[in-house]
Amino acid sequence: SFKPLVFSGVQPTGNLHLGNYLGAIRNFVALQDHHDCIYCVVDMHSITAQLVQPDLPSQTRSITAAFLAAGIDPKKHIVFNQSRVMQHAELAWIFNCVARIGWMNRMTQFKDKAGKDRENASLGLLAYPSLMAADILLYRATHVPVGEDQKQHLELTRDIAAKFNNDFSTKIAELGVGVEMEVGQETVHGFFPITEPLIEGPATRVMSLREGTKKMSKSDASDLSRINLTDDADTIAKKIRKAKTDPAPLPSELDGLKDRPEADNLVGIYAALSGRSREDVISEFGGQQFSVFKPALVDLAVNKLAPIADEMRRLEADTAYIDSVLRDGGERAGAIAEANMKTVREIVGF
Ligand code: ADP
Ligand code: NA
Repeated sequence: SFKPLVFSGVQPTGNLHLGNYLGAIRNFVALQDHHDCIYCVVDMHSITAQLVQPDLPSQTRSITAAFLAAGIDPKKHIVFNQSRVMQHAELAWIFNCVARIGWMNRMTQFKDKAGKDRENASLGLLAYPSLMAADILLYRATHVPVGEDQKQHLELTRDIAAKFNNDFSTKIAELGVGVEMEVGQETVHGFFPITEPLIEGPATRVMSLREGTKKMSKSDASDLSRINLTDDADTIAKKIRKAKTDPAPLPSELDGLKDRPEADNLVGIYAALSGRSREDVISEFGGQQFSVFKPALVDLAVNKLAPIADEMRRLEADTAYIDSVLRDGGERAGAIAEANMKTVREIVGF
């Protein structure tokens, strides 16, 4: 079977927010103790929504700084930006020919981001999941830590891997480059692994602080809707104080959060930041008013996020160091990518 390998990416667009941290980056850090990991700043993805971005280089450095400030070790693992390794684009092209247009049309992220004027969205925005599949499968990664919003894209990655393995099964067997793997109850054979999403922790879908039914997002017009990783203590306090809630106290059982999305969201954030379970948080704060819970959440958030923000700022100022991390990571990623692409070219017949 495949050697376990973790891959994930974050786009260098806009400010990183608490959702990115709790849903993704924090899990990247947790995984690095027991796995080989590749963490990528996916700059080629970021031009799908907006092509001209004069601050792309500084955004790329800023996400890299966030990875390192959160605790990712770039010596033990690989940290790089996507556009340095051209094999991502090469494999994405092949996957564009594996995937079907109907698969892409069903993606909810495309529908959300393209909005009403779909005909005017970039072709890259439609093909986004195909590039994402290439990012992951280029390294034959087996596990991908992401937030819940990426689940559909990861299912598509599995479909692309399975179709490639199946369409080229004869050639893969002839070249002897296939690997056996367990998928559910079945044993399958192929060149690409059927990747497992890792959607873990009490905050896999952090919601907007203004609307409990909308996910916290970089693209939300209201800055009050999200806590940015670089917000200072006063800003974090203000945003949590202003966060929408209902008038009831916190319930004494987890079940009581069911139809209370705003309360549920804040409990999830508290749990994730404190490394405790939701049950635990409810057993401590059940029956308490938000006037008690919110200040506790402010203290916790400031304590956890301020050191990351400080370290991010320190690293961002050291562009030479950040660039050397990306260069070194790009070389190591590129070596793996090229070894795998050699085989892919042979399988396809290039
Ligand atoms: P965004 O969705 O903010 O544009 P990305 O697409 O770069 O950011 O996503 C980076 C990672 O952050 C992905 O794994 C994604 O699932 C995760 N993520 C984004 N928003 C949230 C959220 N509100 N809650 C949990 N995870 C999230
Ligand atoms: Na996203």
